[in-house]
Amino acid sequence: MAFDVERIRSHFPALAEGLAHFDGPGGSQTPDVVGAAVAGTLTAAISNKGVVTASERRASAVVADCRQAMADLLGADPRGIVFGRSATSLTYDVSRALAKQWGPGDEVVVTRLDHDSNIRPWVQAAESAGATVRWADFDPATGELTVADIEAVLSERTRLVATTAASNLIGTRPPTRQISDAVHAVGALHWVDGVHATAHASVDLRGLGADVWTCSPYKFLGPHCGVLAADPTLLETLHPDKLLPSADTVPERFELGTLPYELMAGATAAVDFLAGMDDLDTPVTAADRRERLVASFAALEAHEESLLAVLEPALRAMPGVTVHSNAAHRTPTLLFTVEGVDGMDVYRGLAEHGVNAPASSFYALECSRHLGLGDGGGVRVGLAPYTNRDDVDRLLAGVADVIGSRG
Ligand SMILES: Cc1ncc(COP(=O)(O)O)c(C=O)c1O
Repeated sequence: MAFDVERIRSHFPALAEGLAHFDGPGGSQTPDVVGAAVAGTLTAAISNKGVVTASERRASAVVADCRQAMADLLGADPRGIVFGRSATSLTYDVSRALAKQWGPGDEVVVTRLDHDSNIRPWVQAAESAGATVRWADFDPATGELTVADIEAVLSERTRLVATTAASNLIGTRPPTRQISDAVHAVGALHWVDGVHATAHASVDLRGLGADVWTCSPYKFLGPHCGVLAADPTLLETLHPDKLLPSADTVPERFELGTLPYELMAGATAAVDFLAGMDDLDTPVTAADRRERLVASFAALEAHEESLLAVLEPALRAMPGVTVHSNAAHRTPTLLFTVEGVDGMDVYRGLAEHGVNAPASSFYALECSRHLGLGDGGGVRVGLAPYTNRDDVDRLLAGVADVIGSRG
């Protein structure tokens, strides 16, 4: 089936403002159907989850549907889907529960490729347990993080390894499957930050073998919230701090307070939209959603690759431009700097061209420093399902103009 970007764009009211949005890695724009699902659920008769009244049953159904939708998206078990405020807060919460099982002599591995939300919670949890933190470094020239880089810091005392499925700064997609195998060979858990990756490629958590995958629906056309997927039997072994009367079942044990039903309905609608991107005329059903997601993400990847094939060489050829996204396997996310022009000035210059491409280290602070870019990072351009050729041309013209007006 075809990926019709103009039809996809017609579902995004935000695009009517006319900006070319390359800020998808920070948060994507949202289709009409997601907004309608959020509003519809918020204004429908809805109570706390339950089985007695229709409004209680509505809330229960919203939760069950969302767990199933996220399980379909991630190739995971719906009984292991935990909903939270953000990937950061889920990582913090579960890191504290895991650290209850750690002690002096235990080791936790983090990488310099990661967003800080998959570093600092582990560093702090290890500190509180008296465990040791070991750092895996990527190659700053290639942007690659290899299995060997991880193996170099594994030992029989390793309890957990936290890696990213894709760098939100430079796009690198490390070999998650092989890393999981190496981590499991020493008997440790593999925690994967899938926040950036989930927006660009279909995920098969069972096939990857990783123990935990986190993601954030607002990065893939949904509302602002976070999701964690894990094997429910792993979650059963963890005992987070919780209120006495709240459910001690899995996954509810990890969901503190009342769930945001409207955001969960929005997340389900986002997954359905993603599943139908390659064929907007055929409604997605619960029965074929997984299959449709795999096909639709393949079409999305082809769309993003075709735009990247125009954007990347043109950007690399511009005088004074350095592209820092060099890994062989990566998302369509480019980090670049312009010699002699501050990133913030490039960002502002692009904004004058109606292009939204911010400059920062985007919380991938260790990564930015390891690349030699200090805390400032660079300008990041990320492709999304609604990016079209006109956006790319406008970005390139904007960068050329910023370069032309320097000095
Ligand atoms: C790779 C990556 N991990 C984690 C996060 C944090 O996600 P959240 O805002 O849901 O906490 C982000 C957000 O930018 C990200 O890009």
